[in-house]
Amino acid sequence: MGNSAPVALITGAAKRIGAQIAKKLHAEGFNVIIHYNRSMHKANVLVDQLNVTRSNSATSLSADLCNLSMIDSLAEQALASWGHVDVLVNNASSFYPTPIGGITDSDWSSLVGSNVKGPLFLTQALAPALKARSGSIVNMVDMHIDRPLPSHSVYLIAKNGLASLTRSLATELAPNIRVNGIGPGAILWPERDMEEEEKQKLIDTIPLGTLGSPEDIADTVWFLINAPYITGQILYVDGGRSLYTSASA
Ligand SMILES: NC(=O)c1ccc[n+]([C@@H]2O[C@H](COP(=O)([O-])OP(=O)(O)OC[C@H]3O[C@@H](n4cnc5c(N)ncnc54)[C@H](OP(=O)(O)O)[C@@H]3O)[C@@H](O)[C@H]2O)c1
Repeated sequence: MGNSAPVALITGAAKRIGAQIAKKLHAEGFNVIIHYNRSMHKANVLVDQLNVTRSNSATSLSADLCNLSMIDSLAEQALASWGHVDVLVNNASSFYPTPIGGITDSDWSSLVGSNVKGPLFLTQALAPALKARSGSIVNMVDMHIDRPLPSHSVYLIAKNGLASLTRSLATELAPNIRVNGIGPGAILWPERDMEEEEKQKLIDTIPLGTLGSPEDIADTVWFLINAPYITGQILYVDGGRSLYTSASA
């Protein structure tokens, strides 16, 4: 394709928080690559919307981030889109409880694959290209990394791995590539059904008294991309919720 705008690859960007990050970066002048796994239709609707605003400024690519050859092919196709990549946002994630006693190998593959294997190998594949552009990486972690969420051990092992990866790569890839993370609190309810009472109980644990919004996260991504002296940090965007120490909240 070829044009000189900066390019961002956002994983899991067909909907929800990832889509908002893509819209924000696009509004700030980036060409965006909307990665998806199953949400092809939503990804393509978003791409069409963005291309109406500015032609040849958005595209979509699919990959299962648990699959190494798909990750490598995603990186290759991403680079082929406009010839360079400036920003990688590792946002895709699977999230569900895994109570001890019923954890399977497939839970491990899905949760560790999407939350840490994908980000690690995608970063490895894109590192030379990001280095050439003095690029940056933002990893979507979780404020629960050091405040266990009951029955979510595998998810939190994976998110802790991602937090560790953020800090390791911030040193290994410096000074050419900055690597930061965001630790969202309660931003969007999970896509499973939740009782109103359960929701209210959670809101009661947020000092600022309300859920955050995808815009809060997208604005923080933008801040970190534009913070030339910040690397290796995980910024909690959680309405103060991480100030509570209870493991069961
Ligand atoms: N929502 C919150 O309040 C909250 C709180 C704490 C942390 N976070 C973190 O913030 C980020 C965004 O949250 P969200 O709630 O918007 O995420 P989400 O909707 O739960 O998931 C985002 C996308 O991840 C993709 N994905 C899942 N497994 C994948 C795989 N194996 N390969 C490739 N893609 C895969 C899915 O893409 P397809 O739909 O295309 O399959 C999905 O749409 C996530 O990293 C999440 O852990 C969110």
